[in-house]
Amino acid sequence: MTTMDTIVSLCKRRGFVFQSSEIYGGIASCWDYGPLGVELKNNVKRVWWRDNVTLRADMVGLDAAILMHPAVWKASGHLDHFTDPMVDCKACRRRFRADTLDEQPWTHYCPATKGNKFEVAAGEPCRHCGARRTLCPECGKGELTAPRQFNLMFKTFMGPVEEDATVTYLRPETAQGIFVNFDNVLQAMRLKLPFGVAQIGKAFRNEITPGNFIFRTHEFEQMEIEFFVNPADTLDGRPADEVWHERWIEERFAWYPRYGIRREHLRLREHEKEELAHYAKRTADIEYKFPIGWSELEGIANRTDFDLKQHARASGKALTYFDEERKTHVVPYVIEPSAGADRSVLAFLVDAYREEEVRGEKRVVLRFHPDLAPIKIAVLPLLKKRPEIVATARELRARLARRWMSVYDDTAAIGRLYRRQDEVGTPYCVTVDVQTVGDAEKGEAGDRKVTIRERDSMEQIRVPIEELSGVFGEMFDGAAWRTVAGRYPPAKG
Ligand code: GAP
Repeated sequence: MTTMDTIVSLCKRRGFVFQSSEIYGGIASCWDYGPLGVELKNNVKRVWWRDNVTLRADMVGLDAAILMHPAVWKASGHLDHFTDPMVDCKACRRRFRADTLDEQPWTHYCPATKGNKFEVAAGEPCRHCGARRTLCPECGKGELTAPRQFNLMFKTFMGPVEEDATVTYLRPETAQGIFVNFDNVLQAMRLKLPFGVAQIGKAFRNEITPGNFIFRTHEFEQMEIEFFVNPADTLDGRPADEVWHERWIEERFAWYPRYGIRREHLRLREHEKEELAHYAKRTADIEYKFPIGWSELEGIANRTDFDLKQHARASGKALTYFDEERKTHVVPYVIEPSAGADRSVLAFLVDAYREEEVRGEKRVVLRFHPDLAPIKIAVLPLLKKRPEIVATARELRARLARRWMSVYDDTAAIGRLYRRQDEVGTPYCVTVDVQTVGDAEKGEAGDRKVTIRERDSMEQIRVPIEELSGVFGEMFDGAAWRTVAGRYPPAKG
């Protein structure tokens, strides 16, 4: 199993993710996406948008402001209910979420072994004295305060005066921007139910126990859909909202394996009644087997008409849909598939990571789906001292870069350059060599052919330069390597 440390170290070394403000000692649970990380994350967001908006006739997009009228958060219930129970250790002052205290290992000074210190597994009693945890799980000495509710929204002030009247919040979910724009979108786009509105954007939560790299952070990106359904409709004799909820669970569950996540690393978890958010009738989580264990990747909730009704009540504006068939106004129900962009990036990274042995040497490879790979093509000169080879390679990169993220690299020998590209998941390398350009001094003409090497099989084929765009176009459109490679002679390795 890939460990989180392995992924964190690769991410830093190869420019995917850096600790935020690192030169100042860092700031807890804040991360910056580096040159390859930003490409990967953009690709995740791009394929999500393509599959959920561009390709669907029943979806439109939105990009609402992060700062919203504070009344939004009162009406949505976030001011009153978006809280976690928090406890403090009276000795070491660390803070914990009271409801997840027993989900972490705990430190114990065992009286049955002269007070020796042990780390006991999460939720287990000490195997020497049988005691269960009552004190601080970290220091093992301090008593914990009684739980108190802590609101997770980040508060800020709008304008120069810091007073109650200017308080506003950084949105803790992107969803509310969609609800308050329901009528704007409906009127502008002349939509018919059922339809959805999608949004990708930042959300902020003052989490009590953030951590595990980019899994739980204070600032993160969500990819959310609010899919509006007429509650009066039925499908196959069942309420339409319930049928659409199931369709979306299926659709979203199938989405991750389409981009390379192994099916056995995903599972569905139904929320228990007590666990449901204040707005939800039913919620199912898609969980991924992260290095920290099975954890939520995406939640798919049936939010009913809760939000539209709350905002209509609080704003005094009708947020309804005119049902032509029944000649009546209805408040739509909402199915909400809500995914985290950062958590998806982490899952795609973990799932793509492989350590393999090739000719007695370790090869680290990220087997990214080509749509997600940060770099699509690396153009490599076999000899950097030959100006014609370098010029051809640079010119090729520039041409390919018009359609695909392509890089040129001549900073090492070819074997090492291949390994470097494997480690960041580049699906194809193109190598320009003496045969390509020929040897003017010897009067030998080049064959204008280059080698394409495929990351996973490490197979190599020889392709005329003029056919490169067509070949890559086919492969990035989904054609299998085998199909394309079969048309060309293998390159002599
Ligand atoms: N609008 C519904 C909503 O916000 P949620 O389950 O709280 O539901 C949806 O969040 C998704 O957002 C989660 O499945 C997760 O992927 C991501 N997410 C939530 N909190 C996060 C955090 N602190 N850090 C990173 N991602 C987070």
